[in-house]
Amino acid sequence: MNAISWDNNRLRLLDQTRLPRERVYVDCADYQSVVAAIREMRVRGAPAIGVAGAYAVALAANRLAATSRDAFLRALDVACDEIARARPTAVNLSWAVERVRRAAHQQSDVAAIRACALAEARRIQEEDEQANRSMGRLGAALIPERATVLTHCNAGALATAGYGTALGVLRAAREQGKDVRVIATETRPLLQGARLTAWELREDGFDVTLITDSMAGHVLSRGEVDCVVVGADRIAANGDVANKIGTYTIAVLAKENGVPFYVAAPVSTIDLATPSGDAIAIEERPPEEVTHIAGVPIAPDGVRVRNPAFDITPHRYISAIVTEHGVTRPPYEAGLGRLPRSASAASVR
Ligand code: MRU
Repeated sequence: MNAISWDNNRLRLLDQTRLPRERVYVDCADYQSVVAAIREMRVRGAPAIGVAGAYAVALAANRLAATSRDAFLRALDVACDEIARARPTAVNLSWAVERVRRAAHQQSDVAAIRACALAEARRIQEEDEQANRSMGRLGAALIPERATVLTHCNAGALATAGYGTALGVLRAAREQGKDVRVIATETRPLLQGARLTAWELREDGFDVTLITDSMAGHVLSRGEVDCVVVGADRIAANGDVANKIGTYTIAVLAKENGVPFYVAAPVSTIDLATPSGDAIAIEERPPEEVTHIAGVPIAPDGVRVRNPAFDITPHRYISAIVTEHGVTRPPYEAGLGRLPRSASAASVR
């Protein structure tokens, strides 16, 4: 599944708003169209928007007029700020943009800046897929030989450079010979579970059962789930996790029912500059995502709506955090701080 590719000086994105009914690609020839694709969630998922953001910086560098090195870098910085702000909660976006920006600032002329921005974006993409494969191998040890795993939203190949975080753990467990069944929550309002996870897992031959979000407590209380595995958009220094709205509810229900709750994410999702979940900016999205389903209105006109896209799961509900460098258990503050990091995560709030 190639959701993000660079071809002929354009960024090609598999349009995730059209899945699973249609396989349509959007070609982005400038950074503004990548920003729009991120905002409109044609590309989504924390690591995937990081990769797309990195390529957006390369596109900006390609398109900006060649001036003096310093004027060029000032203009590139303006584009970087705009790209990093496209969505606020997933730290991978600002982390990736900052990584390309820093690499660009180390170059001595415009041609070198352009070449280096593209090379760094490619590296971020390759490293993310490798990180997912390592994370999968390490996280698979947490999955019983025969297991039903509940997952929320889509933390799969579509949400990353490939293989997936939470779904990568399930893929690796299966590759190790384990018998893995999956329960996917539909994930209102935008239905990433129903549209993307159910599709991605079925394409891959998994045994997957789709439930509505409101059924999670029921299946957990009936002993139908051996563990929960989800991804993350930002992990604070104390282990609090921002992830798709509804994750917190599932974590509380998992603890109440004695079911382990695991988070799988690359170190690029860990933001040590943010002490706890209280300090994480939660994206509020348009009301139409709640008042409509697939474009069809379902609520009375003019009703007041809340649409926070993410929630915070306090670290006390999390049994372990899986990264490409190992499985961290509580207390998280010490464990997360010790993990090796390829570049410092920059917070843009
Ligand atoms: O709003 P989305 O679809 O971008 O939200 C995605 C999630 O919350 C994922 O669980 C998270 O980004 C991890 S993806 C590997």
